[in-house]
Amino acid sequence: MEKYSVIFLITILQATIFVASEQPAYVPTDNITLNCGAPTDLLANDGRYWAADKTSNFGPFESSHNKSQAYEADTQDGSETVPFMTARVSRSEFKYTFPVTSGQKFVRLYFHPASYEENDRSKAFFSVKAGSVTLLKNFSASLVADSKGRNWFFREFCLNVEDNEVLDLVFTPSRSASNDTYAFINGIEIVSMPTKLYYTPPDSTYVPFVGQNYPFPVENDTALEMAYRLNVGGQSISPNDDTGLFMLWSDDYLYMSENSYFTMNNSVPINYTMIPRYTAPEMVYRTARTMGPSLAYNEKHNLSWRLPVGSRFSYMVRLHFCEQQDPVNSPGDRKFKVFINSQTAEQIADVIMWTVQGRVPIFKDYVVLVSKEYITIDLHPISAKYYDVILNGIEVFKLSNSDGNLGEPNPELQVAPPPPSDSSNSAGEKSKKRSLLIAGVGCAAGLIAIISLLVCMVVQRQRKGTSWLCWWVKQNEGKSRRTSPLPDELCRHFSLDEIKAATNNFHDDLVVGKGGFGKVYKGFMDDGEKIVAIKRLNRESSQGIREFLTEIEMLSQLRHVHLVSLIGYCNEKREMILVYDFMRNGTLSDHLYGTSFAYDPLTWKQRLEICKGAATGLNYLHTEVRHTVSTVMSRQATFS
Ligand SMILES: *[C@@H]1O[C@H](CO)[C@@H](O)[C@H](O)[C@H]1NC(C)=O
Ligand SMILES: *[C@@H]1O[C@H](CO)[C@@H](O)[C@H](O)[C@H]1NC(C)=O
Ligand SMILES: *[C@@H]1O[C@H](CO)[C@@H](O)[C@H](O)[C@H]1NC(C)=O
Ligand SMILES: *[C@@H]1O[C@H](CO)[C@@H](O)[C@H](O)[C@H]1NC(C)=O
Ligand SMILES: *[C@@H]1O[C@H](CO)[C@@H](O)[C@H](O)[C@H]1NC(C)=O
Ligand SMILES: *[C@@H]1O[C@H](CO)[C@@H](O)[C@H](O)[C@H]1NC(C)=O
Ligand SMILES: *[C@@H]1O[C@H](CO)[C@@H](O)[C@H](O)[C@H]1NC(C)=O
Ligand SMILES: *[C@@H]1O[C@H](CO)[C@@H](O)[C@H](O)[C@H]1NC(C)=O
Repeated sequence: MEKYSVIFLITILQATIFVASEQPAYVPTDNITLNCGAPTDLLANDGRYWAADKTSNFGPFESSHNKSQAYEADTQDGSETVPFMTARVSRSEFKYTFPVTSGQKFVRLYFHPASYEENDRSKAFFSVKAGSVTLLKNFSASLVADSKGRNWFFREFCLNVEDNEVLDLVFTPSRSASNDTYAFINGIEIVSMPTKLYYTPPDSTYVPFVGQNYPFPVENDTALEMAYRLNVGGQSISPNDDTGLFMLWSDDYLYMSENSYFTMNNSVPINYTMIPRYTAPEMVYRTARTMGPSLAYNEKHNLSWRLPVGSRFSYMVRLHFCEQQDPVNSPGDRKFKVFINSQTAEQIADVIMWTVQGRVPIFKDYVVLVSKEYITIDLHPISAKYYDVILNGIEVFKLSNSDGNLGEPNPELQVAPPPPSDSSNSAGEKSKKRSLLIAGVGCAAGLIAIISLLVCMVVQRQRKGTSWLCWWVKQNEGKSRRTSPLPDELCRHFSLDEIKAATNNFHDDLVVGKGGFGKVYKGFMDDGEKIVAIKRLNRESSQGIREFLTEIEMLSQLRHVHLVSLIGYCNEKREMILVYDFMRNGTLSDHLYGTSFAYDPLTWKQRLEICKGAATGLNYLHTEVRHTVSTVMSRQATFS
């Protein structure tokens, strides 16, 4: 936990150091931003003007007499962000036509699944085709958003436009018996990409098909959909800070294995001698993950990522490497194996061998056919001078199948089976009635960061105390809620049954974050109405016990609109579980360093307000509530 706090702090510093913007590495010929349904051109947070579709030359074009309509979104969910404020909505087919230059393009579609007046958000089901390629099929933006716990999102595709072709995007509502399904779109972005970025150049060695003995070129007739673009070991990089291609790089926090180390060196000059500069921003190569210095640990573990994907498609996996750790500078210094979906992708990965010298980035592409619902990447060290692994970035693209389709079923809103209920206790009975929504992996790491920051600061300050806490734990183990020393209205005690019901018995699909302290689950309480984040601490770790108690005590007494609230806890059968409000719109770091689009961005004024707020909060913790904080600290554990 403290490790994460430190990382969090470092990322703040890191972001501050790199504000200066550089000349983009690539200037796209086509650079179109279309704000669908907007009355006038609007300036977005990315510094670009988004053109109103009505007054643009691109459409919408409609054949039927049922005309599409422009609507404003209800911005109560905070979506005052171009292009999510307005939408083009239609119950019949409509299209946009872009007379772009020939060559490969990024096509990004922006969706804010709100209810647009009489058009209910759950009634939007539609397909999007670009020429003969189906980008989305019977697509429900609301189901996708709900499964991610987001209010809006975008999808990114790559496709090739032949000479003398135009790029058409056709939106077709799915057919339904009630005739009330509709198609909608909030924004469209088209950006030219360099020919050699993702497509296999005609003269190049082909991409290896992992586990097979033949190559798999990614050719012009294939369309790609970006599934992941991760800055491993670093934080998200906004489209504005990309290389001119407006790519969004996310952090890999939600997908990585436990116990990885984080490395970065802000002063490393990245030397793009092997790959073009537009491939990825320098920050991707300045940050990395490694396993750390424990040989015994490294021998028995892999450094792993697990990325949920739709099955039965082929995926291109691109791994970015750059040796930026000082001692590693000769071939053979660090060697490791790379497995993708448990198949050997690289027998011996030796980055310096590939790049000749350090601080030179390189990437490797692989294609895998996915039959399970995720892609795993495992790195394992081979004995060498430094018995460790390194990875700087991951990109994953879905490849269109032979009939030019990229569409796949919508995530389902499932009803979970009732939790195992052993007795007649009321919690068990109540939870039987509970219909649980199982959603996909969401995003709630920010609360961990904020909380760990606070807790870390308090915990770090003083490490002496009594064994009071130990007594407290023993007293409360397996006992009823009445023995809790904390008032119920401040911090609710949950039974283990209630927690199990909320997380479908700690189902892996609901894991939204993990680390040395344990896992964080998304949970549904009060008949699925309340979404919470449930942190289940490792039973083994004594540090866990300390954190558990500190967090309950601290957070149950500190309430502030800008703090993630602790709702309650569970301390039964040796389980240590904390329940918080779920942060639906991504993490604080997403908002701070995040992007103009995937998250609601913050203005400089808001950022300053946050700094001011955080400073006031810390001052408050250290001065005005001295009694509270010092009480907690003096009870702090000698306990270790
Ligand atoms: C993209 O277009 C906008 C105009 O909307 C322009 O200001 C910007 O400089 C262009 N960006 C690039 C990288 O060409
Ligand atoms: C036009 O709208 C009406 C009612 O909304 C619907 O019944 C009809 O099928 C639509 N026509 C076309 C060509 O989509
Ligand atoms: C694919 O398209 C690009 C850009 O249009 C072109 O330069 C390249 O030669 C094409 N590749 C093949 C194999 O046709
Ligand atoms: C579209 O998807 C929804 C649920 O995801 C499903 O109920 C519906 O039958 C599908 N419609 C078509 C035309 O495939
Ligand atoms: C749906 O549209 C079809 C064709 O336009 C029409 O025959 C049918 O009655 C409509 N159904 C409803 C429920 O409005
Ligand atoms: C960062 O890289 C620079 C340049 O290679 C090197 O001089 C410095 O020692 C490195 N710093 C750390 C902390 O590794
Ligand atoms: C980058 O690498 C090349 C080739 O090894 C070398 O000549 C050049 O000096 C390096 N540049 C920097 C800034 O290190
Ligand atoms: C590392 O991952 C590979 C591929 O999934 C697996 O075969 C191997 O057993 C793992 N090694 C360890 C030590 O977990």
